[in-house]
Amino acid sequence: MRVVVLLGAPGAGKGTQAQLLAGRLGLVHVATGDLFRAAVRSGTALGREAGAYMERGALVPDELTLRILFERLEAPDASAGVLLDGFPRTLAQAEALDAALAERGSRVEVAPLIEVPEKELVTRLSGRWTCRADGHVYHALANPPRLAGVCDVDGSELYQRDDDRPETVRARLASQLGALTEVVDHYARAGVLVRVDGRRPIEAVTADLLTALAPAGRSRSAVG
Ligand code: AP5
Repeated sequence: MRVVVLLGAPGAGKGTQAQLLAGRLGLVHVATGDLFRAAVRSGTALGREAGAYMERGALVPDELTLRILFERLEAPDASAGVLLDGFPRTLAQAEALDAALAERGSRVEVAPLIEVPEKELVTRLSGRWTCRADGHVYHALANPPRLAGVCDVDGSELYQRDDDRPETVRARLASQLGALTEVVDHYARAGVLVRVDGRRPIEAVTADLLTALAPAGRSRSAVG
C-alpha cells in the first residue's frame, strides 16, 4: 500500500493541495478532519465525542483518531494507496501508523511539509470558505469562487467552518503546533521529510509538491 503523508499547520494548505494532487498521483485523499466532520454530521457516538474537542480547537484523542483512520484504510478504495491529510498529528499517531504499515510490509513513502508562517495561517483560516457537498476549499481573497457563496466544482453552498472563528483559530495553533514539530522530527529521522515553501501561490506549491514527490525530486530537496 502506497502512503504519502501531507504535513502542515492548520491552514497551511494541506486540503487544497490534497484535492489537486490525489487524482494525479493515483491516490485516495483521506483527511481525518473530513472523517470527523462527517461523523459529527451523522450524530454518531464517535462524532459527538470528537466534536467536543474540535469545537475548542483541541486535538481529538489518539484512540478515537486511530479508530476512525484505520477503519477508513480498510475500505477497498484505499488499498492501492492513500494521500493522508491531517494525520498523523501526534507522535503516537505516527508510530501507530508505522506499526500498522509494517504489518502490511509497507511504510510511509514520503512526508512533504507545507511550511507557512503563523501570521499567514490566521489570515488564511479567517478567509476560508468550504463547500458543503465535498469540502472543496476557497479563500475570499487568495482563491475566490467564480460566484460568491457557490462551489465552482459542484455548485453547492459555501460555508465558514465553526473552528475558523478567530478565537478557535488561535486555540488550534497554540495547542497543535508543538505536536506537529514532534511529527516532523519523526519523519526527518525516518529520512522521508521534504520541506515545501507554502507561502507561494497555490499552483506554485502544487508544482513544488509534484517535484518533491517524484523520486528524483526527493533526493534533490532539503530533507530534515
Ligand atoms: P482539519 O480539518 O484537519 O483542520 P486543520 O489541520 O486545522 O487543517 P485545515 O483544514 O484547517 O487547513 P489546511 O491545511 O487543510 O488548509 P486549507 O487547504 O483548507 O482538522 C479539524 C479538527 O479535527 C482539528 O482541529 C482537530 O480537532 C481534529 N483532527 C483532525 N485530524 C486529527 C488528528 N489526526 N488527530 C487529532 N485531531 C484531529 O487552506 C486554508 C485556506 O488557505 C483556504 O482558504 C485556502 O483557499 C487558502 N490557501 C491554501 N493554499 C494557499 C496558498 N498557497 N496561498 C494563499 N492561500 C492559500
